[in-house]
Amino acid sequence: MSDNTRFTLKESDLPKAWYNINADLPFPPAPVLHPATMEPVTPDFLGVLFPMELILQEISTERYIDIPEEVREIYKLWRPTPLIRARRLEKALGTPAHIYYKHEGVSPVGSHKPNTAVAQAFYNKAAGTQALTTETGAGQWGSALSFAGALFEIPIEVYMVRVSYNQKPYRRIMMETYGGEVYASPSDRTNFGRSLLAENPEHTGSLGIAISEAVEAAAVSGGAKKYSIGSALGHVLLHQTVIGEEALLQMDKADEYPDVVIGCVGGGSNFAGLAYPFVHKNLREGKRARIVAVEPTATPSITKGVYTFDYGDTAKMAPIIKMHTLGHAFVPPPIHAGGLRYHGMAPSLSGLVNSGHIEAISVPQLATFEAALTFARSEGLIPAPESAHAIRAAIDEALDAKAKGEKRVILFNLSGIGTLDLGSYQSYLAGKLQDYEYPAEAVAEAMLTLPKVNLPG
Ligand SMILES: Cc1ncc(COP(=O)(O)O)c(C=O)c1O
Repeated sequence: MSDNTRFTLKESDLPKAWYNINADLPFPPAPVLHPATMEPVTPDFLGVLFPMELILQEISTERYIDIPEEVREIYKLWRPTPLIRARRLEKALGTPAHIYYKHEGVSPVGSHKPNTAVAQAFYNKAAGTQALTTETGAGQWGSALSFAGALFEIPIEVYMVRVSYNQKPYRRIMMETYGGEVYASPSDRTNFGRSLLAENPEHTGSLGIAISEAVEAAAVSGGAKKYSIGSALGHVLLHQTVIGEEALLQMDKADEYPDVVIGCVGGGSNFAGLAYPFVHKNLREGKRARIVAVEPTATPSITKGVYTFDYGDTAKMAPIIKMHTLGHAFVPPPIHAGGLRYHGMAPSLSGLVNSGHIEAISVPQLATFEAALTFARSEGLIPAPESAHAIRAAIDEALDAKAKGEKRVILFNLSGIGTLDLGSYQSYLAGKLQDYEYPAEAVAEAMLTLPKVNLPG
């Protein structure tokens, strides 16, 4: 075991390939269905939204997919990211556990999101895409894609959930600084947005609605614009595995191997990015790390949602996928400040929870912010509220190890920093946040609106 606190890698250690979980899934992938016909989608349908290289990655079963050299060169602006042993947090908790975190907040935009934004912009540029449309919630993803668009000279059109657009001007300014065009969603730029505004001019929006608008904007562009997604789909998770591939090398340097690997989950991308290379070791090399996905009790897609076919967006324009879902019409409760608001979950991750290879837990908002403060006051970094869910779970593991007198090696993903989320911290510090349990009845009701899928077998 090493005495170091930071475990860094050389630029030349930057992984040359992403790890593709499709090669190792212990179950057959569920088909992706057309939202209108409910038949398996064709590449033609997906081709309206995505360049062919990304569609091929979505279905590839090659275990490793080369990272294009141009993407690796850009990754070098912030990668390899450090792995840090949280010695001061360990001390504050008085735990015998060893806590490590992978610091993805060192990217130019402050989160893991550019790992896929840069890759998606690269493949779109190569395919001749003239502009990209996307959705963003709090703005982390929109800023990552705007940054990538600036590098590849692709205009970026971002539909930002209206409530965040109004409450979080700094992320919008960041996107605009990179050259992104940002619209509050629902907007008057799309048929779907206009129909919602006609019903309710004060509509605050949701991620599902913003996805619908971004998909519509690409679909009606006659091929000029494509759509880019920040999480949930296979190619996005694939690009994020650069995180875990580096972490494997760094844990080797620390001369330890994690007993438990933890990440927060919105659509699943930062979690899968860190965890899938360790899942690979579990599935193929006899390792036994526990793999834990953490979500908020306010948006519990895995722990309270149902594993079934559902639309990826609210307007039912995006493909239907088999996943854990709270229902495509889900709008997060307004008292929830902690991010992670998507109604569904990545299909591979949903399947791996269902098959027992990944554990899922949910943590309440107040305990999450409490953990964020403990972390900030010992390690110095103010985490993104999303990442604080992983910190909560890591602290709980460390306290459990302490209670049992066990040495436990804990690895979690610090998916981003929270310096542009200080409004949420302000609400927490002022005692204005509450815990919220998403009601089981709301899930049951939403299940009545699921697509009626009729598949053989
Ligand atoms: C910092 C940070 N962490 C985590 C997430 C959740 O997304 P995902 O589950 O795709 O990693 C987000 C989403 O915007 C984020 O900004």
